[in-house]
Amino acid sequence: MVVRRLDVTDERGIRNLAHEVEEEFGRLDVLVNNAGVALDAGESGLNADLDVVRETLEMNLFGAWRLCEAFVPLMQRNNYGRIVNVSSGMGALNEMGGGTPAYRVSKTALNALTRILASELRGSGILVNSVCPGWVRTDMGGSGASRSVEEGADTLVWAATLANNGPTGGFFRDRRQIPW
Ligand SMILES: NC(=O)c1ccc[n+]([C@@H]2O[C@H](COP(=O)([O-])OP(=O)(O)OC[C@H]3O[C@@H](n4cnc5c(N)ncnc54)[C@H](OP(=O)(O)O)[C@@H]3O)[C@@H](O)[C@H]2O)c1
Repeated sequence: MVVRRLDVTDERGIRNLAHEVEEEFGRLDVLVNNAGVALDAGESGLNADLDVVRETLEMNLFGAWRLCEAFVPLMQRNNYGRIVNVSSGMGALNEMGGGTPAYRVSKTALNALTRILASELRGSGILVNSVCPGWVRTDMGGSGASRSVEEGADTLVWAATLANNGPTGGFFRDRRQIPW
């Protein structure tokens, strides 16, 4: 296993990593955009700190977007790729509630990015999906969350290893499609 450190807000770092992956391996099969922050838990949309909203978008939306822009060309070269955008039910318009506005908006926007890229890449061999891991016992989810990390990761791994005729442009939890 080869491990590399990456800050997803560092454009040059991403470009360098893409170059290194190309030089060392000549291909990239799977991109899981998992890095994320929740900086405004419990805050209200009516008095949101817009700097926090920007910071959240920088990580949760632009981070994933930059990674896709940098790595999709490498996937296209091999006509194969699986992109998993780690989203959240908190970004689903269908069940949108109040509070935590920066995090919610960032995940709604990430879901839009999933739809856009899935549409643009349809037929290319690259499948792009959003996944909600559920409420998971991580630093973000806290020790009271209902799911273990293994349970939370299950649908991410499933989406990262879909067969060629698998879905694209979908939003999944527990390997099942959920409403946007
Ligand atoms: N936990 C939940 O209940 C839950 C529910 C729904 C969705 N999610 C989503 O699942 C994903 C993972 O969340 P988590 O629960 O594992 O959160 P977490 O415990 O807070 O971990 C966040 C991860 O993001 C990384 N990260 C933060 N800033 C970064 C940056 N600038 N560049 C690269 N990596 C960065 C962190 O790396 P370092 O450790 O190196 O800082 C850490 O590995 C997130 O997208 C989150 O929104 C989580």
